[in-house]
Amino acid sequence: MIYFMKRLGERLFRWRETVVMFSKTCEQNVPDPADPSIFIFDSSNKLPDHLRKEFTKLRGLGMWIFTWFRMKFRGSRFLCLIEGNRICAYGWAEVSSPFIRRYRWLIPSAFLLGPFWTAPDQRGRGLYGRLLSKCLAINPDPAKLPVFIHADATNTSSLRGIEKAGFQKLGTFEVTSYLMGLWCTHKAVSQAGTVCPTDSR
Ligand SMILES: CC(C)(COP(=O)(O)OP(=O)(O)OC[C@H]1O[C@@H](n2cnc3c(N)ncnc32)[C@H](O)[C@@H]1OP(=O)(O)O)[C@@H](O)C(=O)NCCC(=O)NCCS
Repeated sequence: MIYFMKRLGERLFRWRETVVMFSKTCEQNVPDPADPSIFIFDSSNKLPDHLRKEFTKLRGLGMWIFTWFRMKFRGSRFLCLIEGNRICAYGWAEVSSPFIRRYRWLIPSAFLLGPFWTAPDQRGRGLYGRLLSKCLAINPDPAKLPVFIHADATNTSSLRGIEKAGFQKLGTFEVTSYLMGLWCTHKAVSQAGTVCPTDSR
């Protein structure tokens, strides 16, 4: 609950972070890895009770409220990697909302990924990469929507996982959002690439 209140407070007022941004453009549908351990939930395919309880136990009630909100109001898809009846890793994917301005200056429309999480005892097994591959396959319009992901500049595991999944680095930016992302400012710390061609369509 403390996590939820903190995140809510930050988003409501002022939220600044230094992030590395990546994108991946696919002109056509990416083959589905058909990973039998990955289950996808959304507002029409709800998380079963036992998984919701396990998730709340694992990550807390605040994170569950955040997850529920994203599925219900942002059309977010929640990917869970389940092995031996437990949630080993999860992450989100959604089509960017025109009202969220946080990254629109860089990518006006995108299939946004993240955040992701792997259980501490399961890290280093490539579960993150499996979820990222699945996300590429569920992009609803690969020709128009580049896949976009970012990670905190200090999060080496996440940066490594994203690079391993073949995303191209766009740069490192300091982004400040005000009033739930309705107004944003950004400063390029270093720019590594340009916005992919799909973005200008
Ligand atoms: C970032 C995170 C999702 C990566 O998940 P993962 O399933 O361990 O990813 P991978 O197995 O592909 O490992 C990625 C890199 O993490 C590092 N790593 C490996 N084992 C690790 C461990 N036991 N603990 C921490 N990091 C580890 C390595 O650098 C690895 O790359 P390498 O295999 O080429 O050496 C996970 O560390 C995590 O949940 N972190 C906390 C939440 C977070 O920061 N999420 C990212 C926000 S998008």
